[in-house]
Amino acid sequence: MNFELNETHAMIRETARQFAEEKLAPSADERDEKELFPHVQIKELGELGFMGMVVPEQYGGAGLDTLSYAIAIEEISRADASCGVIMSVNNSLVCYGLNKFGNEEQKQKYLLPLAQGKKLGAFALSEPEAGSDATNQHTTAVKEDDYYILNGIKNWITNGINADYFLVVAQTDASKGSKGISAFILEKGMPGFSHGKKERKLGIRSSDTVSLTFENVKVPAANRLGDEGFGFKFAMMTLEGGRIGIAAQALGIAQACLDASLKYAKERKAFGRPIADLQAIQFKLADMSTEIEAARLLLYNAAALKDADKPFGKEAAMAKLFASKVAVKAALEAIQIHGGYGYVREYNVERYLRDAKITEIYEGTSEIQRIVISRSLLK
Ligand code: CAA
Repeated sequence: MNFELNETHAMIRETARQFAEEKLAPSADERDEKELFPHVQIKELGELGFMGMVVPEQYGGAGLDTLSYAIAIEEISRADASCGVIMSVNNSLVCYGLNKFGNEEQKQKYLLPLAQGKKLGAFALSEPEAGSDATNQHTTAVKEDDYYILNGIKNWITNGINADYFLVVAQTDASKGSKGISAFILEKGMPGFSHGKKERKLGIRSSDTVSLTFENVKVPAANRLGDEGFGFKFAMMTLEGGRIGIAAQALGIAQACLDASLKYAKERKAFGRPIADLQAIQFKLADMSTEIEAARLLLYNAAALKDADKPFGKEAAMAKLFASKVAVKAALEAIQIHGGYGYVREYNVERYLRDAKITEIYEGTSEIQRIVISRSLLK
């Protein structure tokens, strides 16, 4: 085992849990119902240092480790998985990408306010015809003097309406395949840059998801992130860390399912006694708890490997694959334990199921995680 939880981790868990219980849980259902973006809550998370957790302090971040970040996302998602994904995209895709691959000027201009939580970021890789098949980019970036001219469409962009800055992947040389793809930093409001209507989703309904359209968007060459042709590797390397964030989100949802089930099983009576006395319920709780603990260990292991600067892509994929499966199963079991009450809005567990499902899809489907894992085993 590669990790050990210390006092800082305990303090982060306590802070995140308190915030989640006081500031997120009471209003999460209403935001879900009305599809309201958590503006106030995200601002407060920024003030807590949770929007740039692993970014060094000199660039506006909290200078914490990935394990702290995983713990925080888990606790936030336990109350509100929509906040979990907004936070995860800003931290592990946008801030990480800028911190790892940005130059000093880009870090000062973009990373600093993002890590401080004063601005929000989005990550734009997927397209209508490039989801799992991420090399099949149709968005083009053509160099003209000191600018690139971007044209194309991106799909399924989390934070797409509310973000200020966007990391966008586009093709700069179609003849070079994945080596002809580059990454750029775009700002909201650049002429020709617009978003589509908000997607109506099954779950994580208070986070916004939209398509983005680029019509002759003039992006300064100084906004290219890394070398020309580095965009695909940038996206793949960044997504490895993103998968830690989504595994943590899934874990938080699964834990919420167990918490709700334990409480309900002790309160609800059937056949003259609490249903917690029935072995049929006890075995469900035991399985849920065991699987959640296994997911947590996989997640913390991947986070610790990343903190130790060791390869962690396979382990992050395993953590996401397993934690997302555990979350969906835990949500189904939680509904079963709650019976009819689980199927209606009153007890939250139907929201947990709707929120859990996406963790098997975004930032690489479960099938993509299996590709990443098996390639690593067979290479
Ligand atoms: N690190 C560094 N380089 C990597 C890499 C990694 N993790 N993975 C691939 N590469 C490199 C390869 O080495 C290769 O380079 P060389 O030619 O120099 O060897 C190049 O990238 C191309 O790689 P592959 O040949 O493996 O490419 P592929 O077409 O077979 O695709 C894939 C690989 C794993 C299927 C990849 O396309 C993939 O991960 N797809 C899923 C995309 C994804 O996760 N999308 C999520 C969208 S983001 C999102 O959901 C955010 C949100 O808003 C919530």
